Amino acid sequence: MKRDHISFIFRGSRVDLAGFSPHATLLDWLRLNAHATGTKEGCGEGDCGACTVVLARARDGKLDQRPVNACILLLGQVDGAEILTIEDLAEGEKLHPIQEAMVTHHGSQCGFCTPGVVMSLFALHQNARGPVERPEVDAALAGNLCRCTGYRPIVDAAIESCAGPSQDRFAATRAPRMTALSALDDGADVFVGTTSQFFAAPASEDSLAALYQEHPDALLLSGSTDVGLWITKALQTPPKIIWLGRLRSAFTAIESGDKTLSLGAGVTLADAIDPLVSIHPDFAEIMRRFGSTQVRASGTVGGSLANGSPIGDLAPCLIALGAEIELRRGSELRRLPLEAFFIAYKQQDRRPGEYLRRIIIPRPALDREFRAFKVSKRFDEDISAVLGAFHIGLAGRHVIFARIAFGGMAGTPSRAPQAEVAAIGIDLDAPGTWAQALTAITQDYAPIDDARATAGYRSLIARNLFLKTLMEIAGIPQEITRITNFEVPHAAE
Ligand SMILES: Cc1cc2nc3c(=O)[nH]c(=O)nc-3n(C[C@H](O)[C@H](O)[C@H](O)COP(=O)(O)OP(=O)(O)OC[C@H]3O[C@@H](n4cnc5c(N)ncnc54)[C@H](O)[C@@H]3O)c2cc1C
Ligand code: FES
Ligand code: FES
Repeated sequence: MKRDHISFIFRGSRVDLAGFSPHATLLDWLRLNAHATGTKEGCGEGDCGACTVVLARARDGKLDQRPVNACILLLGQVDGAEILTIEDLAEGEKLHPIQEAMVTHHGSQCGFCTPGVVMSLFALHQNARGPVERPEVDAALAGNLCRCTGYRPIVDAAIESCAGPSQDRFAATRAPRMTALSALDDGADVFVGTTSQFFAAPASEDSLAALYQEHPDALLLSGSTDVGLWITKALQTPPKIIWLGRLRSAFTAIESGDKTLSLGAGVTLADAIDPLVSIHPDFAEIMRRFGSTQVRASGTVGGSLANGSPIGDLAPCLIALGAEIELRRGSELRRLPLEAFFIAYKQQDRRPGEYLRRIIIPRPALDREFRAFKVSKRFDEDISAVLGAFHIGLAGRHVIFARIAFGGMAGTPSRAPQAEVAAIGIDLDAPGTWAQALTAITQDYAPIDDARATAGYRSLIARNLFLKTLMEIAGIPQEITRITNFEVPHAAE
């Protein structure tokens, strides 16, 4: 079954849309076509949150409502969703409770950020099960910049208006909205355009494999938190786009076994949080600081690896754990260690017509320790200068196994071979035995100077992160540098 249009719900009605440019953004459609100018354009790159809207989808029998950055989300990605913008919230003159609280607490001055802030809080409000506390609000707002009001009044408004499960008209109409959304899910392959310029959204992996083999020059699109910027900032106009967001089964499955965790490439970063934390608690901080709630709601595990970023946060962690990836081309499946996927800067071992299907992550054995640290200029919404991940095996108080990987230290996320060898034999109770391995880290990499950090700083940080890891494992008291009072928010209800 094929469909030549996308279908979504907007202002309570179904919209069937064909004939749009494959690289049109949702924000442009909202502002230029639907004249929904309440949604603002600030940075155009997912950083400021002025463009935040909420997408609702029927997922596994539940209404899943997430804030997204409309500036980098492509229009075709709203297929199957309900778009909620700032204009949807008030009923005539009656403000929504979030808006009311923003007024009461003086949460807006120039007002440019306000629609985005309100929509982020609206998503929090819809998903709240009980009273929200400051850390949860901070996480919800990490992707929204306000440059004049200051955040305290906004946080006060959030805490007051999200004091319990939502009882607004959106909560009251969940059932009919679910029914309308379920009716959009027809299982048809979407193909809008011509064979030389199209936006396609296959409904099954077989359809994807066939289409991608036919058009190996097409650009695969997952959450668009990278691709969106190529369009809005690098002004690229990719003519053929295949969106993977409608695939199900293995592509979005989370299989949690005793020995391994398997994440489908299409699992969003938000949905990956709990499974990753079940591997090790350090993933809670890594994922809390991965972009923002909006970025995690759209971005996927597969996209964060397939983009080959040398400063991506997941890759070093998963390499240290010994993860493997599964790729598919046509009906052929191929499996390789994640580290082998990254050949050189932005060059991955992916053949024409091949896509990343799932990631298989071994759980560390009981006699092994894992640590991961992200170092960036800001706590929130910042790309790593360095990310270090350490997987250490012990026999008593001696290191007998080490797998160490870094992001931000080379053109690809990569292991520290000399340090791994030098670490064997370390006596946790004799810090004198650590020196060789600590020095080896600085010899394993030749990092670059850039806007995020100098080469010297990166080398020093890498060494010190290893030292911190050893001190933590050895149980040596140290300054408190870990942030422990945050909660990991959940995008979906
Ligand atoms: C504001 C902002 C903050 C960010 N913060 C962070 C951060 O803190 N840490 C971090 O690591 N990253 C960060 N990023 C980068 C980005 O969010 C992640 O890399 C993200 O996970 C990309 O996933 P995606 O699904 O959006 O990929 P997309 O943008 O859809 O795709 C990225 C690339 O992967 C390819 N691709 C996607 N899926 C597949 C597949 N299944 N098979 C083959 N190829 C595929 C695409 O063709 C494209 O080349 C940030 C981005 C933004 C905009
Ligand atoms: S306009 Fe800044 S995040 Fe979209
Ligand atoms: S009120 Fe002016 S930027 Fe927030």
